[in-house]
Amino acid sequence: MVYNIAIDGPAGAGKSTIAKRVAKELSFIYVDTGAMYRAMAYYLIQQHVNGSVPEEIASKCRGADISIEYRQGEQIVLLNGENVNAYLRTEEVGNMASVSSANPSVRARLLDLQRGLAAAQSVVMDGRDIGTTILPDAAVKIYLTASSETRARRRYKELIEKGEECNIEEIQKDIEERDQRDMNREISPLCQAEDAVLVDSSEMTIEEVVSTILNVFHEKTGN
Ligand code: DC
Repeated sequence: MVYNIAIDGPAGAGKSTIAKRVAKELSFIYVDTGAMYRAMAYYLIQQHVNGSVPEEIASKCRGADISIEYRQGEQIVLLNGENVNAYLRTEEVGNMASVSSANPSVRARLLDLQRGLAAAQSVVMDGRDIGTTILPDAAVKIYLTASSETRARRRYKELIEKGEECNIEEIQKDIEERDQRDMNREISPLCQAEDAVLVDSSEMTIEEVVSTILNVFHEKTGN
């Protein structure tokens, strides 16, 4: 039996940390769809595409062939056959991904890949439109969010620990702008699916969020 868990929510809500942990507990595959959009964005940056010209994004995105592999449980994103994982987590790529993911041609290129992965095996898939568009029949749908202050604080801590210089007000502003773009785009905007369970992690520990989701899974599936 294949079970799919969809976790959607805004940037910095902790989706990937939580989804990875839930996948590990259940021995499911973790699918990070944001990384696929980031790989596309990385490609577009390399091609010097102007993010504010949708026609340019639509035509250039055809040159990006994105696929996924798993090595020791870690998702590897292949862009035209090359492992690009190391280049995906920068602010530049994140900002371009937020812009280019609003483009229908970009979304169409990634939809089949995401559905195919979920049809073949049990997955915990995180993103923005998993419960609403990609996997409308997922056994469990979670909308994971947190206040923009909390999300900025978490991101700030992460960057400081990595030794990067940053400014918390700027991070919060960036997060809020990204939320606006992700929630207000025409195609597949970020929103809570009607049948999704809302989890606000602002005052919760990682353990509490993971066990909340596992409880929802047990309740919904009887497993
Ligand atoms: O989750 P993330 O920050 O890695 O995602 C990068 C961008 O990709 C984000 O701005 C929104 C977009 N995205 C999307 O539109 N749909 C998804 N399923 C996943 C990410």
